[in-house]
Amino acid sequence: MANSTVKPATGKLGIMVVGLGAVSTTFITGVLMTRKGLAKPVGSMTQLDKIRVGRGADKKYLPYKDIVPMPTLDDLVFAAWDVFPANAYESAINAEVLKEKDIDPVKDELMAIKPMKAAFDRNYAKRLDGNNVKQCRDRWDMTEQIREDIRNFKRESGVDRVVVLWAASTEIYVAPDMKYHGTLADLEAAMKADRTDVIAPSMCYAYAALMEDAPFVMGAPNTTVDIPAMWELAEKTHMPIAGKYFKTGQTLVKSGFAPIIGTRMLGLNGWFSTNILGNRDGLVLDEPANFRTKEVSKLSTLESILVADNQPDLYSDYYHKVRINYYPPRNDNKEGWDNIDIFGWMGYPMQIKIDFLCRDSILAAPLCLDLALLIDLARRAGRCGTQRFLSFFLKSPMHDYTQNEIPVNHLFQQYVMLKNAIREMGGYEADEEID
Ligand SMILES: NC(=O)c1ccc[n+]([C@@H]2O[C@H](COP(=O)([O-])OP(=O)(O)OC[C@H]3O[C@@H](n4cnc5c(N)ncnc54)[C@H](O)[C@@H]3O)[C@@H](O)[C@H]2O)c1
Repeated sequence: MANSTVKPATGKLGIMVVGLGAVSTTFITGVLMTRKGLAKPVGSMTQLDKIRVGRGADKKYLPYKDIVPMPTLDDLVFAAWDVFPANAYESAINAEVLKEKDIDPVKDELMAIKPMKAAFDRNYAKRLDGNNVKQCRDRWDMTEQIREDIRNFKRESGVDRVVVLWAASTEIYVAPDMKYHGTLADLEAAMKADRTDVIAPSMCYAYAALMEDAPFVMGAPNTTVDIPAMWELAEKTHMPIAGKYFKTGQTLVKSGFAPIIGTRMLGLNGWFSTNILGNRDGLVLDEPANFRTKEVSKLSTLESILVADNQPDLYSDYYHKVRINYYPPRNDNKEGWDNIDIFGWMGYPMQIKIDFLCRDSILAAPLCLDLALLIDLARRAGRCGTQRFLSFFLKSPMHDYTQNEIPVNHLFQQYVMLKNAIREMGGYEADEEID
């Protein structure tokens, strides 16, 4: 770490989570259990991965904390907002992701995490009906109240730094509209004019976070920080942002599997992905307007890996469909099927079937940890704006679509970006060797 120019991770890091549901309680419980030595942080890059630095005789494989200054899990302090008043213990039990035996050893700490009132608008998630909600005069007032929450948390908890992580329900789709989302001035004017149709509550959280010196991560497919006005605010406040949408389950498989087809110069006729899930996320997504947000974001993954313009003989005409079905009996244990119609030599067709019986929140929890720790690292490294090196963790990586930038969805290219960013922040040279 001798060469790193990143500021040290002194003091405590506050992680303020929007939404205290299945994902966030699984995340927080896992961190607290790991802290006590009762669990292992499986799936977390920051806790388990090792990156090669140096080459030839000088090369070594180091954990992230030995390359760049990182907080330990003991340094983390949690807070949350939710539409329902249940504390983190009750919410973890309700979510039915973890067994009681894996929650009870940290019951007291979880019970102490009581959600602050949510900045919420039922028009953005019609199937949610909680009463732990702020009364706001308008969207501007909503941001002011969230800012106050962040300031109070900082003061009362004594944390040194804060990051804000959205792990709340998917909102209805807000199409970026340059009239309101084009510049910071437009965005602020729309908030003050209480344009509830174009200013989602999530935008108020993001705005408040950046104004209060806290980086913001969007874990849902919401377009919240995926608009030029927020990029401008991130520049102005010198804060990093990342999004969108935790890369779990089916998209993780897709972004890791599609490269096999593309690397072997095989053709694709179609890719049909469907899944069943029964958690509250699935319930919210059963509403067509909320599903739309997810669909828009999920569809782009394949198109940027198997690109028609690069290989017209192989990828010019494939049919890509994504379906999500709410099916309560499975709760958080999602089953995702992929049917992939490929073709080979002389156009002969073949099929690949993948059946992934996954656990949604078990896959999402380590991403919350890694995104929170790495966006804090980015801030300490003086980076601001969209953090492309975090694309590895995200289904629908943010990119500057106003400049026709193509996002990187290929899992292994994303991994190179992640490793190189860590190397550079650690004062090592970036490279593209395969290990
Ligand atoms: N489960 C996964 O693997 C996974 C993967 C990728 C992304 N995500 C995304 O993560 C998010 C959370 O998923 P989950 O399974 O924990 O859902 P969940 O329904 O269990 O939890 C979401 C919580 O957010 C709360 N909420 C909604 N709007 C809010 C607001 N404006 N302010 C504060 N709280 C609010 C809800 O009351 C709920 O308790 C979803 O957007 C989902 O799409 C989940």
